[in-house]
Amino acid sequence: MDFDEDNLYHPKNIDLYKMMYTGKGDITYLSDRLVSKCDGTVLELACGMGRVILELVRRFPGRSFVGLDYHDAYLNKCVKIVQSEGTLTDAFELGRLRLVEGDMSDMDSCLPPDKKYSVIILCNSSFLHLETTQQRTALLKGVKNRLEQRGVFLLEYALDFWRTWDWKEKTASNIPYRIRKRNTVSQDGLYSTRSFEFTNLQSDEVRTVSVTPWLFEPSWLMDSLRENGLKILLEDNAFQNESGMRRRILHIGHAG
Ligand SMILES: C[S@@+](CC[C@H](N)C(=O)[O-])C[C@H]1O[C@@H](n2cnc3c(N)ncnc32)[C@H](O)[C@@H]1O
Repeated sequence: MDFDEDNLYHPKNIDLYKMMYTGKGDITYLSDRLVSKCDGTVLELACGMGRVILELVRRFPGRSFVGLDYHDAYLNKCVKIVQSEGTLTDAFELGRLRLVEGDMSDMDSCLPPDKKYSVIILCNSSFLHLETTQQRTALLKGVKNRLEQRGVFLLEYALDFWRTWDWKEKTASNIPYRIRKRNTVSQDGLYSTRSFEFTNLQSDEVRTVSVTPWLFEPSWLMDSLRENGLKILLEDNAFQNESGMRRRILHIGHAG
């Protein structure tokens, strides 16, 4: 397999990405706890190749969904999946599913003006792809403007950033891999350079692929939500993904 070692989300690493993000536990949580309880259009920010949004389209016939991502390689892969499956193709042709290329910290540049959403999803720690405070603040302002009055913004991220773990074996392109996550934490404990180590179990070859540096600032998030007229409606720490990593799921709504 061809690897880009600097960035897990490089288009060359699509097979790795597909191998790593296959679980559906978070989608069931989203379906049962959120999407089934709200009417209106659902927007997923940083939808990647559609693991979440496409499954929601399958589960909720009649509802409208928008997936937004800034990486055309991932969106193209998403479009290929849509074209290969009748239910998804129909939804796409009926305008029930829209895929938008754009930056989640600049939603006004890629979403129709004044369009609001009843559910906005940003899951799988994708919030942390926004590396600067300016980008993160712009994202929260965008959410505030785009969320219906009684809508819910669901922000989900991993709690165990600092833990290094072995993942169960996974298969990509018919080759079994063992995945190990490695973290290097800065002295102040705030920055973590995260990487994944992939061992090809047929050849024993080991490759390390980096992920963006992660910055974890829960207090900044709480302050910034308040400053932008948003508030936490519910904090759920119960969910674990398939690798056993604990997740924090914040349900966020308008403050007033
Ligand atoms: C961890 S993946 C999550 C994909 C999908 N939500 C899932 O759970 O399977 C992160 C995605 O964030 C996207 N991304 C990173 N920064 C972004 C930005 N500023 N605007 C939109 N998408 C972004 C990447 O292209 C990648 O597809």
